[in-house]
Amino acid sequence: MAPVLLTALSTLNYRNLEAATLSFPAGVSGIWGANGAGKTNLLEAAYLALTGLTDAPRLEVLVRAGEREAYVRADLFQGGSLSVMETGVGRGRRTTKVDGVRVRGQELPRGSAVWIRPEDSELVYGGPALRRHFLDALLSRLSPRHAQMLTRYERSVAQRNAALKSGENWGLGVFDENLVTLGSEIMLLRRRAVSRMSELAAENNAALGSQKFLGLELVETTTPESFRHDLTRRRGEEISRGATVVGPHRDDLKLTLGDFPAADYASRGEARTIALALRKAELDLLRERYAEPPILLIDDFSAELDPQRRQFLLELAASVPQAIVTGTEAFPGSALELRASAGRFLPELEWPEHLQVQSVTT
Ligand SMILES: Nc1ncnc2c1ncn2[C@@H]1O[C@H](COP(=O)(O)OP(=O)(O)OP(=O)(O)O)[C@@H](O)[C@H]1O
Ligand SMILES: [Mg+2]
Repeated sequence: MAPVLLTALSTLNYRNLEAATLSFPAGVSGIWGANGAGKTNLLEAAYLALTGLTDAPRLEVLVRAGEREAYVRADLFQGGSLSVMETGVGRGRRTTKVDGVRVRGQELPRGSAVWIRPEDSELVYGGPALRRHFLDALLSRLSPRHAQMLTRYERSVAQRNAALKSGENWGLGVFDENLVTLGSEIMLLRRRAVSRMSELAAENNAALGSQKFLGLELVETTTPESFRHDLTRRRGEEISRGATVVGPHRDDLKLTLGDFPAADYASRGEARTIALALRKAELDLLRERYAEPPILLIDDFSAELDPQRRQFLLELAASVPQAIVTGTEAFPGSALELRASAGRFLPELEWPEHLQVQSVTT
């Protein structure tokens, strides 16, 4: 199948970005500029337009200070046909349209973009919730069924916790049924995904030049076979804590580098490398699933990386049909170069100064 290309990105009232439509060619577009220019905001806007997804803590932070709504639009080209994806966000609200028709989150194309950024290192150093979110977000993009089950499971946990807190423990059995059915299926799906992902991540970590083996292991609080029993066994503890203490919502994805837990021992650059290996695995899995490579968004390509790892990113960007890469310096070998400054993105023109003056005066 022909690859999806982002031909244009439009934004309005999006953080510090000046309202504009930017055109992008196939291949690598490099965007560079000073700290605070708006490079990350642009990639964040592109990711939102392409996937409908954001991990902003609150939607209103995406809206330019003083405005009520922000809007992003991606014009996509695939195999001779055009399509338009639009997302509007306001306080606690998000609307998405594909070709002018309103769609719900689950109906959006899921494999169209992967976003790689320095903050991904938090996957290594941060708490289990971040890694669970990474895993679930990816699984939800690979399987709409998983997305649906996860939403239902999370709702069941919330209802059960509310019942535990309120002391209405006589109804717990009903919640347990739901929890066990959905939770067991989620565990099995996660196990399968982690086993495939750990192969890919270890391969990618080695390709990045790391001499240490990267291990991924799903640490579960229970198993599909013992979930029901564990819920009953720990009921006393649950009642006193007012929370469901076992189940896939408590899983962790343990990362090890060589013989040590990565969270405690990895250096900054090693953590970024591990995160890169995970993101590349995400790209690999999406590519496998949708038979076409996603658009790659790479933020701050040089941050904390040594030359060999930078080279890996260079080659990765060049290996997909389209990539947008930002940095505080120019990205070598780009098809388009834009200079970011105060929310504006302008092509770099390398005309001799006297020619620029002439064109203004004549
Ligand atoms: N809702 C908002 N309204 C107005 N300005 C905002 C909003 N959210 C963020 N900004 C501003 O946008 C600016 C650009 O942020 P951004 O993270 O895109 O910079 P950057 O070019 O990626 O910088 P760096 O090189 O440091 O990563 C920041 O100065 C920030 O204060
Ligand atoms: Mg940035």
